[in-house]
Amino acid sequence: MSVKLINPKNKQPLKLIGTDFVDVSGNKFPLVRGVLRISHQDNYTDNFGMQWNKFDKTQLDREELGHNLSNKRFFAETKWDTQDLAGKNVLEVGSGAGRFSKVMLESTLANLYSVDYSDAVTANFQNNSSIAGDRLNLFQASIYEMPFPDNSFDKVFCLGVLQHTPNFEASVSALISKAKPGGEIVVDFYPINGWWTKFNAKYMLRPVFKRFDHHRLMQMVETNIDWLMKVESLLHKLRLGVLTRFLPVVDIQGTLPKYLSKAEQREWAILDTFDMFSPEYDSPQSINNVTSMFERNGADVTFAGFEYFEGFSAAVVRGIKRA
Ligand SMILES: C[S@@+](CC[C@H](N)C(=O)[O-])C[C@H]1O[C@@H](n2cnc3c(N)ncnc32)[C@H](O)[C@@H]1O
Repeated sequence: MSVKLINPKNKQPLKLIGTDFVDVSGNKFPLVRGVLRISHQDNYTDNFGMQWNKFDKTQLDREELGHNLSNKRFFAETKWDTQDLAGKNVLEVGSGAGRFSKVMLESTLANLYSVDYSDAVTANFQNNSSIAGDRLNLFQASIYEMPFPDNSFDKVFCLGVLQHTPNFEASVSALISKAKPGGEIVVDFYPINGWWTKFNAKYMLRPVFKRFDHHRLMQMVETNIDWLMKVESLLHKLRLGVLTRFLPVVDIQGTLPKYLSKAEQREWAILDTFDMFSPEYDSPQSINNVTSMFERNGADVTFAGFEYFEGFSAAVVRGIKRA
């Protein structure tokens, strides 16, 4: 059965009339470029809207070339069984250009309800609507105002998002509220590893760079990426890799897949460096803290720790919503 759509503010059901979804009080939400827009289109995630529409295909898996990092990460973190997901209603929050939406839709027969607060949903629709037909339901909406009743979903996942929301615990609570009792919630997030977590160029420069006009920041990254990549590589060759944390460029050796060509590596480096500096919020958390947030907000934690895939690791918490 499909999930009912509601106006998140007054909880009234939404019905499709013409090209708008309308509640009984007459509030309208338009379908724009294939996506139901619940939120104001301009908000603190505009940087993500820009980055995911510019780099809409960059991080998508291309299985024919052996590019499968998103698939490996998704299943390493969720441990979900593809057969078990057939016909289930699954919620994804903060889908960006849809790299994990694509994995879900291609590997399972689940119905995916996918939300992002930014116009990244436009890129996701273009990337994934043709593979899934009506199994993909996309919404531009905030994690705090999603257009579904509570207790609607068999599974909920939220990867690479929570640190970029203004209130980490309220976001965890929102995810748990949408799962059915007995439903599973899986999140990953930037971990706090120690006092040194924020002792690097990213956290030193972010307060300034995030205020830059996004187009100007993107241009700065594009102009400087080549020499930054060269210095990064040189420091590694000189066995001075420890110093790369003070370079204003993404950690290429530590975070980019090895199978990328030189040109692809450059493209990923621009995307990820912009993604380092532009978000309004960037709040890493300790795994213990996130575990407590799950427990306080109605879910029993089944796993809290690092999951490993393709030489990378991610901080993951999984939980089951209490009855
Ligand atoms: C770093 S991107 C990750 C995208 C995708 N999960 C991936 O890993 O490729 C973070 C995403 O979270 C979204 N986001 C941030 N705050 C949000 C909120 N309050 N509600 C829903 N999405 C949000 C952003 O728009 C952005 O697309």
